Amino acid sequence: MAEKLIISGDSKAEKYEVLYKQIKELVGYETDEIANMANISSMIHEAFGFLWTGFYRVVGEELVLGPFQGPLACSRIKFGKGVCGTAWKEACSLVVPDVEQFSGHIACSSLSRSEIVVPVLSDGVIVAVLDIDSRELSTFDEEDRLWLEKIVALLGRQ
Ligand code: SME
Repeated sequence: MAEKLIISGDSKAEKYEVLYKQIKELVGYETDEIANMANISSMIHEAFGFLWTGFYRVVGEELVLGPFQGPLACSRIKFGKGVCGTAWKEACSLVVPDVEQFSGHIACSSLSRSEIVVPVLSDGVIVAVLDIDSRELSTFDEEDRLWLEKIVALLGRQ
């Protein structure tokens, strides 16, 4: 059976639906978490053309840079710092329509205008966050949050 391709004209929902199915299949046969984070970053990044898409993993008291696609990023983020550290501390997804309005935002790239961060849970504990940066303002909304939460939940099932 031919695999469904993601076409640039597809709606956001259509892209996420295809992505979700492909990622579900991927994590069904690969159990290595880093390998899956690497491919998930790549798949989301390629489908939407974001500025930066990747994971930070919880290592002790810090988030440490994991697999990503896009420009150079800071390697470590402390608990409660930046959008990523705040999502970890508050244990919830954060949608930031304008990064300049988020107090404490860590600017890894001056091109980033909006951002979404989604915690990755394993047995109810946050083990990583998925971070996505966009070149445009207000790129992310509730639809992105819901789909991305659904996608990262696939990682936690391993
Ligand atoms: N902006 C993030 C830092 C990570 S980079 O965007 C890749 C933050 O404020 O936590």
